[in-house]
Amino acid sequence: MTWNPEQYHRFRAARSAPAQDLQALVPVRDYHNIVDLGCGTGEQARQLAERFPAAQVLGLDSSAEMLAQAAGGPATPNLRFEQGDIAGLTGEYDLIYANASLQWLPNHPALLARLWARLRPGGVLAVQVPANHDHPSHRLLTETAQEFAAELGGFTRFGTAHGASPVLTPAAYAELLDALGAQDITALSKVYPVVLPGALGLVEWTRGTALVPYLSRLSQGDGERFLAAYRERLRATFPSERVYYAFTRVLFIGGKPEN
Ligand SMILES: C[S@@+](CC[C@H](N)C(=O)[O-])C[C@H]1O[C@@H](n2cnc3c(N)ncnc32)[C@H](O)[C@@H]1O
Repeated sequence: MTWNPEQYHRFRAARSAPAQDLQALVPVRDYHNIVDLGCGTGEQARQLAERFPAAQVLGLDSSAEMLAQAAGGPATPNLRFEQGDIAGLTGEYDLIYANASLQWLPNHPALLARLWARLRPGGVLAVQVPANHDHPSHRLLTETAQEFAAELGGFTRFGTAHGASPVLTPAAYAELLDALGAQDITALSKVYPVVLPGALGLVEWTRGTALVPYLSRLSQGDGERFLAAYRERLRATFPSERVYYAFTRVLFIGGKPEN
């Protein structure tokens, strides 16, 4: 899957608000090892390294393109980046941080249990995931993918059933954390609105994230036809030149008790 850091950063300001809310939930502690899962271009990992200078911070991401940009930032002695898959996380950490990345992995109950096993006693798990998979922009994307089933080899991100996203409710995440033995659990949902210039604005927003797995599976020509078909569907649903995109996200955090 090929990510485009420039496209992702076109909406940097809108995407940074939930990250700042997640940072604010992270308690100030003497962390030694921090991992930022799906660190992308590294801003969050860098912020954690600056906030907790005594900690070693690892930014982990599967995308070479995102990591190339992360590595281009100013040298920070306690920060390093590595290419790897969140699903295969190794090592032990006292802060596991994931901003806008776990939605790309399936089966969150199993995933949280695996991450929890990588957390040291006294450690903290802090996560933010977009929860807007019921929005028409996603439903119309799935419909477009079904129209292009032959070109995509039958791939649709959420399967053929609309809404089959791995993202759960705040209550479900809180229950999962409790079942894992977490303390000091906070789980909430918040709308981060983005005002976009009509259907075209929605396409540009989606190009940075949700469109990535589709466009990276298509030839340039098929990709252009896919975008045109998606744009037409969006135009029919959002004919106005102003779209108020009520982008919902879920944030949750929990601590592992000391032994
Ligand atoms: C929407 S970006 C978020 C980037 C960053 N955390 C931020 O807040 O700006 C999602 C990132 O997750 C990464 N990602 C998705 N699935 C992954 C996986 N299984 N393992 C590692 N990284 C993954 C992508 O490469 C991408 O850089």
